[in-house]
Amino acid sequence: MTTPLRLGVNIDHVATIRNARGGEHPDPVKAALLAVKAGADGITAHLREDRRHIRDADVATLMAALTVPLNLEMAATQEMLDIALRYKPHAACIVPEKREERTTEGGLDAAGQFDVLKPVVAALADAGIRVSLFIEADALQIDAAIRLGAPVVELHTGAYAHLTGEARAAELRKITDAAALAAKNGIEPHAGHGLTFDNVAPIAAIPQVAELNIGHFLIGEAIFGGLEGSIREMRRQMDLAR
Ligand code: PXP
Repeated sequence: MTTPLRLGVNIDHVATIRNARGGEHPDPVKAALLAVKAGADGITAHLREDRRHIRDADVATLMAALTVPLNLEMAATQEMLDIALRYKPHAACIVPEKREERTTEGGLDAAGQFDVLKPVVAALADAGIRVSLFIEADALQIDAAIRLGAPVVELHTGAYAHLTGEARAAELRKITDAAALAAKNGIEPHAGHGLTFDNVAPIAAIPQVAELNIGHFLIGEAIFGGLEGSIREMRRQMDLAR
């Protein structure tokens, strides 16, 4: 059965541009509201340990301003857990975080980090926050998500997005199989990272995938077609593929 497909727009890189000059422009919250007007079903923001884009004040303003769900991406640290419990976003997606990386490289090792993740997942769930784990399309990681009691996994599409030819096709098969395995075990599969107009269709066509989270490409493309234009076109491509 094909589930409806939601689009979560990641606004981190509006904040990246703002922070380049240290002022208040462009405002990521204004971008979030425009994204919703253009068809985003939710907004995603990653509060990194180094605050390189989204800041604590952005999370507070987003929570106050949004009428759609906020998905807060966060590392499994006590600091981020405290912030999530303070603001209580609709969802929290736990991601691996390395200080030197340019973006989230690779999925969370939910199997290897099981003992660290267990209390974080439990505390978020107890607060009514929908927990998602950003993992590679791998049966071992899905098994860990099941054991951790996570209701959602977000499948990392970064490798798929960067590969070509048969290697990309093989990665797509892994993502397709992982989505089916997650859904069979009562976990809602999402997907994201590196998605563009050119590569979104095969991921959007996976019937169990319920949400795509897309950021960098949409914000970059907004330079050429405006933010509303880039989001509307992504929405159209997703709907066409479904
Ligand atoms: N999903 C997760 C968990 C992410 O960490 C990111 C990047 O912040 C995205 C989706 C969006 O990736 P991109 O910016 O490449 O579209």
